Amino acid sequence: MVLDYGGQYSQLIARRVRECGVFSELLPHHVGVEEVRRRRPRGLILSGGPASVYAEEAPRLDPDLLELGIPVLGICYGMQLVARELGGDVQGAEVGEFGRSELTVLDTGRLLRGVPHEQSCWMSHRDTVFAPPPGFRALASSSASPVAALESVERGIYGIQFHPEVAHTPYGQHIVTTFLEEICGCERSWSPESIVEDQVARIRAQVGDGRVICGLSGGVDSSVAALLVHRAVGEQLTCVFVDHGLMRLREGEQVIRAFRDHFGVPLVAVDAEDRFLRRLRGVSEPEAKRKAIGSEFIRVFEEEAAKLSGARYLVQGTLYSDVIESGGGTGASTIKSHHNVGGLPDDLQFELVEPLRALFKDEVRAVGAELGLPERLVWRQPFPGPGLAIRVVGGEATKERLETLRAADAILQDEIRTAGLYRKLWQSFCVLPDVRTVGVQGDERTYGHVVVIRAVTSDDAMTADWARLPYDLLEQISSRMINEIREVNRVVLDITSKPPGTIEWE
Ligand code: XMP
Repeated sequence: MVLDYGGQYSQLIARRVRECGVFSELLPHHVGVEEVRRRRPRGLILSGGPASVYAEEAPRLDPDLLELGIPVLGICYGMQLVARELGGDVQGAEVGEFGRSELTVLDTGRLLRGVPHEQSCWMSHRDTVFAPPPGFRALASSSASPVAALESVERGIYGIQFHPEVAHTPYGQHIVTTFLEEICGCERSWSPESIVEDQVARIRAQVGDGRVICGLSGGVDSSVAALLVHRAVGEQLTCVFVDHGLMRLREGEQVIRAFRDHFGVPLVAVDAEDRFLRRLRGVSEPEAKRKAIGSEFIRVFEEEAAKLSGARYLVQGTLYSDVIESGGGTGASTIKSHHNVGGLPDDLQFELVEPLRALFKDEVRAVGAELGLPERLVWRQPFPGPGLAIRVVGGEATKERLETLRAADAILQDEIRTAGLYRKLWQSFCVLPDVRTVGVQGDERTYGHVVVIRAVTSDDAMTADWARLPYDLLEQISSRMINEIREVNRVVLDITSKPPGTIEWE
């Protein structure tokens, strides 16, 4: 169990533990010792956090957490809390230590077994431990941290000042593994296969012989959720795929082919393009577009659900990161309001089935691969619920404009995939502003559309950087778009990061 003291990397710690094949949960630091005990963890990790242990409002350490009879590892702030609680010397240092640092191991002790004497590590702190608590051994130091690692094997308490969870600490995963396997005695039992087995059993227990309905979007979350439920209860599941006509080229077909034809999942595919385009007529303001699409989506879905009489359960692809963001566990699932276009309202009369509730995104992909989901769907970049409509910007999303955008987008995807860059980019897509410019082609004046290339790298879409695509690739994309799409006579590149830009243009 990872207790979160507000650190930037707390989720990452939980993920690293799972990467070692050990199930982990992330809970807020104030859950209380009773709740911790109830969940019966094999070990406890106290995360980093932004506070100074001396600050008035700083989160405190409940000393009972150190008396549970299970090993405890404090990381950064977590180590300082432990050191201070047990009588070590922790002080605010003159200078902080941020970024890469050189670690010298004086005594590997139990925690640092197998790591070299000198290594680099990632630090991010101002308070510093100058002496370990009585009965503890100092294991390592760095230029700004006299005590950068400590332990008391007798008490089962360990601490490291640096961040083992980030890639800049090359031996970080080794240390986490030592803690889990050698110190906590955990077994590697968390794997895509075990997740599938476990979820299938849970879904069966929840659903019994009830009928289940699942809205498929073609994204990885709803696809994996649907496949898990199908594995569990077979034909009791019906998937509903609403094709709003705002998808990318042939994407609708791919979803239908994969689910209906390949997996044999009962699937209702609704071709609702005309309805959506009618709804979008005369709508050019971005929020109005989102609302129009969102409400039309719900209407179509409800109509289809009504035809499937007797369905009591609704599958939802809520992920563990949504659960954590909504306060760590019980309670209703929250989907960021901005992102729930294509989502469903709360008052639908269904009980929710949420087979991804315990999973991080990378685990969802691994489970998808385990279940045989085609690589294209497993690794699909995020795609907004309102689809291409919010990429026809500054104007109405008409059929003609959507077709131009779809053609440009297909060329971009094709070239990005061929260049082997698809998985490296968070998103890559085209935008079609409602603008025309003058050009010259074959000695003739043209007056055509401008296509914008938008490609970004990101970890979580909260911030993003524009991708440095190679010039030769850009040239190839640009010339293909202009040659192959009659309506396009200019291609430009968006070089705005987020912030200040957003990823989508609307
Ligand atoms: P922005 O544009 O806010 O986007 O930087 C962040 C991420 O969210 C996606 N996005 C949406 N997803 N419905 C969705 O399902 C929406 O209305 C929506 N708007 C933006 C966007 O593609 C990016 O991944």
